[in-house]
Amino acid sequence: MTTIPAEPDLQAAFDATIDRHDRIEPRDWMPDAYRKTLVRQIAQHAHSEIIGMQPEGNWIGRAPSLRRKAILLAKVQDEAGHGLYLYSACETLGVSRAELTDLLLSGRQKYSSIFNYPTLSYADVGTIGWLVDGAAICNQVPLCRTSYGPYGRAMIRICKEESFHQRQGYELLMTMMRGTDEQRAMVQESVDRFWWPVLMMFGPPDAQSPNSAQSMAWGIKRNSNDELRQKFVDMTVPQAEALGVTLPDPGLRWNEERGHYDFGEPDWQEFAAVIRGDGPCNAQRLAHRRAAHEEGAWVREAATAFAEREAAARESAAREQAEGASGPAAREGVAR
Ligand SMILES: [Fe+2]
Ligand SMILES: [Fe+2]
Repeated sequence: MTTIPAEPDLQAAFDATIDRHDRIEPRDWMPDAYRKTLVRQIAQHAHSEIIGMQPEGNWIGRAPSLRRKAILLAKVQDEAGHGLYLYSACETLGVSRAELTDLLLSGRQKYSSIFNYPTLSYADVGTIGWLVDGAAICNQVPLCRTSYGPYGRAMIRICKEESFHQRQGYELLMTMMRGTDEQRAMVQESVDRFWWPVLMMFGPPDAQSPNSAQSMAWGIKRNSNDELRQKFVDMTVPQAEALGVTLPDPGLRWNEERGHYDFGEPDWQEFAAVIRGDGPCNAQRLAHRRAAHEEGAWVREAATAFAEREAAARESAAREQAEGASGPAAREGVAR
């Protein structure tokens, strides 16, 4: 990409839009770095929705009842839809979905670390809904006000669906907690496994998140990682109490002075390893996505061939019409 020096008035108009908390739209001038940051963030978000279908998709064929299966199917399909809205939003910045898919499949773009953990029991479907979608809501509600228009508008719809995801998870766990001792133990075991990886979803501590300040100055991000993590913990502790599960953090306690819960530090070395590709399921998730992409090649070829045929048909109809307008058929048409 060639860098054309920004006209000072274009930069000034961009800055003024950001300062007014207004939206930047696809045809507006924007700094290259803003565009690049958005492409990276929106693509990573889209990839997370698509890869995120796998851990729960794993349980669709083994749902304990028709009702649970219908709920889970609807939820996983929603995630596919979220991926598609976000790929579309990203395309407005001048990248194609094929390029983004390639970046995911070659490991050059990331997705959320949480989806590299396995789902070992049906309680995990509930825990993912409650905690993972709950954390996603905390992250995403402020993104409805993000400075880039297509991203913010996609997030409004996504957040409505995420709130259904969180509720269905909580309702599943609540039902299990009212069941047998074995079911309660399943829920607790699942929460024990997911709690720390969920806290890592908000990203590294602010002091170690060098890009955050620029993203906040551009109005892409509205809150820091640590602020959002705190908000999530404060929101989740009373829900855990209502459920009757214990959050596996001995340091978790209400701090009267701060008006927030204090909590322990996630294992940031584990987080770094998962991001690097060494989490429990990284290889499996990417291999599955690659296989699905290859198996879908015929659909893409068929869609391309259909689009080409339609375009050719439209073109020849337009040509016939243009010729007909001056020919005998047109004169006949006028006579009628
Ligand atoms: Fe989603
Ligand atoms: Fe979701």
